[in-house]
Order: sequence, then structure tokens, then C-alpha cells
Amino acid sequence: MSKQDQLAALRASIIKNKVCPDLASQATQVVFGDGNPDADIVFIGEAPGKNEDLQGLPFVGAAGRFFDEMLESIQLKRKDIYITNIVKYRPPNNRDPLPEEKEEFLPYLREQLDIINPKMIVTLGRHSMECFLPGLKISQVHGQPKRKNGKVYLPLFHPAAALYNGGMRQTLLDDFARIPAIIKKITIESK
Ligand code: URA
Repeated sequence: MSKQDQLAALRASIIKNKVCPDLASQATQVVFGDGNPDADIVFIGEAPGKNEDLQGLPFVGAAGRFFDEMLESIQLKRKDIYITNIVKYRPPNNRDPLPEEKEEFLPYLREQLDIINPKMIVTLGRHSMECFLPGLKISQVHGQPKRKNGKVYLPLFHPAAALYNGGMRQTLLDDFARIPAIIKKITIESK
């Protein structure tokens, strides 16, 4: 089966297995992920918002526009990366996802990552970081690649943080600027 087909089957299993039925009943659709299944980098946000819920795609609202700008700053486009969220349904009124909702979706996120098998996983925000690197403080470790179980993780602040904190915008752009060199190093090491 191609990666595309495996991902489509995984998406279908979220519906078939009735993951988070409460969220599902209030959401328009599953927001599964977008981009290139052969990408070297997978970005992981928190949960879809209103625009994402309506369009069925992650990061298409205001935070998504800044995300695209950051990608462009390192000469990347959506088709070069893959992007998804921990929780695949919009939480009502954009509340934070509950711990049990994150837990219920985590096996699906892990399988999604196994299928794509990227060189690096970039977590966007504290919630996403805590799924993979629990116990760290994002204010202390943002922009620093971490190796764990043979995988490289890069914790970053959430792009939405830049929308209400101007200083955060430059911090995120500076952290993004480190991505090409990190990928290059991983590629050299794996040869
Ligand atoms: N914030 C997220 O964490 N994910 C989205 O898809 C949109 C906004």
C-alpha cells in the first residue's frame, strides 16, 4: 500500500472507531493532515480551529498564514512538508483539548508518524511538545533539537502565540531559521 493509501485508511479508522465521539458530534469533519507524506519534516499543532474545521485542513486560519510565512522564510512550501495536529476534531469554542482527548488521539498520531517516517518532528506549542518530550519547559528548550528513541524532535512555540505577542514572532522566525541546518546534519549523520 502507498503511504497515501495507508494515511487514507488511518483517517477512515478514526471515524470507524468513533474516536472522541463528543468532539466528532460538534465538528464539521476530521482534520487529518496536509502536505507531502514523503516529507522530511512533520509539524504537529494542537487541534483544529474554526477555519480548519470548515475547510478540513490544518493551519489555514490566522496562525496558518503566519506558519506559511515562516515556511517561506526558509524556502519551503506546504508541498515540501507535512502538517497535522494531535487532536483531529475542533474542540468547541476553541477550548484547549482535554488530556483524555489528546490521549485518545495519540495512537493515531503515532501511526501517522510511523507511516510518514520523517527525519524530524517539529512540535508547535506546549501541548504538542508534551506528547513527545514530557517534563520540558518550552521557554527553555524552544529551537533546540532533542534526540529521543532514534528520532529528532524540535520544540517550537505555537504560531498563534505570535499573533498576540510581537516579540514571539521574531523568536519563532529565528527558531525556524535553524531548521535547514538541523535537517542537513541529520541527513549527513544518517549516511
Ligand atoms: N492551531 C492549531 O494548533 N492547529 C490548527 O490546525 C490551527 C490552529
